[in-house]
Amino acid sequence: MTKPILRALAGEALPTPPVWLMRQAGRYLPEYRALREKAGDFLTLCYTPDMAAEVTLQPIRRFGFDAAILFADILLVPQALGADLWFVKGEGPRLSTITDAAGVAALRPAADVHETLDPVYQTVRNVAGALPPGVTLIGFAGAPWTVATYMIAGRGTPDQGPAHAMREDAPKAFDALIERITDATIEYLSAQVAAGAEVVKIFDSWAGSLSGAAFERYSLQPMARIVTALKARHPGLPVIAFPRGAGARYAGAHAATGAECIALDQSVSPEWAAAHVQPQGCVQGNLDPRHMVTGGAELTAATRRVVDAFAGGPHIFNLGHGITPDADPDNVHRMLDAIRAEPANG
Ligand code: CP3
Repeated sequence: MTKPILRALAGEALPTPPVWLMRQAGRYLPEYRALREKAGDFLTLCYTPDMAAEVTLQPIRRFGFDAAILFADILLVPQALGADLWFVKGEGPRLSTITDAAGVAALRPAADVHETLDPVYQTVRNVAGALPPGVTLIGFAGAPWTVATYMIAGRGTPDQGPAHAMREDAPKAFDALIERITDATIEYLSAQVAAGAEVVKIFDSWAGSLSGAAFERYSLQPMARIVTALKARHPGLPVIAFPRGAGARYAGAHAATGAECIALDQSVSPEWAAAHVQPQGCVQGNLDPRHMVTGGAELTAATRRVVDAFAGGPHIFNLGHGITPDADPDNVHRMLDAIRAEPANG
């Protein structure tokens, strides 16, 4: 087990942390934009294994990251469950909405998602066969709460209001929706692992909008159920969980989800997280993605701060959220130079 990402996930503190970036294949790269143009449509890109594998590998070639993350989207699962899905240029995703028990009941069974998602597994096989040695292949899915927010509202929302309204006004239907997504996600991630994914990451991008008992019930518990089921099917599989916006509740998230690694957003300081989260296991994060746009001496200083804060334990360097389309690829090189620089005091 020599791959640096797998060593960090097993609990090892490495002299230089392994690194990859959320959304590392994306619009800030000219080679991505070219292939995206050729595909015509974002979903065509996701469902065409040759192109999706090529896009997955682009940032590996350019930057030499330690992990490749499968190129796909969290909203393919709702589509596989029967929702209509399309992307509006410059605006984002749109889905048919689910508002009541009848809408949930009309979804396909979780075991049937493979029919739609089969091309994604072929992408995983293609990438697994083409990865440079030492590079780890990460599969992923959205967490049930985050996926549900899109299925209920039919689009991204600033406050996840429609999903909060449904969980309060129609709790039975809402619970059934969470259960269906959870089961489908177990099927989906398990098939990614069978196809060659070595690690899986669960993105709960909107976990931070849940408070009190709802955070446990709708963010942590469904993720824990996914982790337990995956580890039963694939003993030893390392998992990264990302309850984005958890704040102080990142402390305890390793135990509450069963994940080896908790991904941190930039709202918590690396020093706080090193003291309160990293003692419980590997952490991933958490440079503010704006530095990939602004660059300069601040980028170098902020990068070193993250590296130094987490140097005493297992750490995978990443941003606190996805790299944005206006990022400058040269800033990624500057960040890598800062990560890999010798510490000032030897
Ligand atoms: O990290 C990676 O490089 C792997 C690929 C990946 C994408 N989306 C590709 C993508 C991953 C891991 C995701 C996850 C995802 N998708 C999340 C969770 C993580 C997060 O960012 O919070 C969410 C909420 C989505 C849903 C989604 N997909 C939205 C809201 C959008 C539109 C916003 C945007 O950035 O355009 C997408 C589209 C999307 N997914 C793009 C990419 C590269 C851009 C589409 C394009 O090329 O036109």
